[in-house]
Amino acid sequence: MKTIDINIKIGCCQIEELSEQEQLLVRTAIKATAHSYSPYSHFAVGAALLLADGEVVMGANQENAAYPSGLCAERSAIFAAQSQRPDQAIAMLAIAARSGGCLTNSPIVPCGACRQVILEVEARYEQSVRILLYGKDKIYVVESVKDLLPLQFTGDSMK
Ligand code: THU
Repeated sequence: MKTIDINIKIGCCQIEELSEQEQLLVRTAIKATAHSYSPYSHFAVGAALLLADGEVVMGANQENAAYPSGLCAERSAIFAAQSQRPDQAIAMLAIAARSGGCLTNSPIVPCGACRQVILEVEARYEQSVRILLYGKDKIYVVESVKDLLPLQFTGDSMK
């Protein structure tokens, strides 16, 4: 059997190495953790989106006693942005999280369902979403969600 090599490059840096705009987006994601409603997991996730026109939209995870009824920070932010500003592409997304009140040391990465939703955003607006994953130790910079989801199921998969 042949094998296929899938190579993924992910940037790894400190916050000072990011542009001013990127640093601001990361700081906004950190701020957004304060809006998390997470009485069950005590894991507070914040997301900040940069729209094409420069507007920033925040999101935070919203939990529910019926666990699956809750929603992740990334999708809260994306669905809010698309509901209010459907004409605006999403250029960038920053994510940060606090566990028991402290910012995580390792970069927080989006769950599979959020990756799939970000993929749809990229297809819808025909541009990739730059993703900044914050951790106290390091920040990962991902150029497209395709790097986090190498084999993608999209609308084209059904043709
Ligand atoms: N969560 C997010 O908001 N984003 C992620 O990328 C991972 C997980 C939330 C869902 C749930 O409220 C809590 O974190 C624990 O899974």
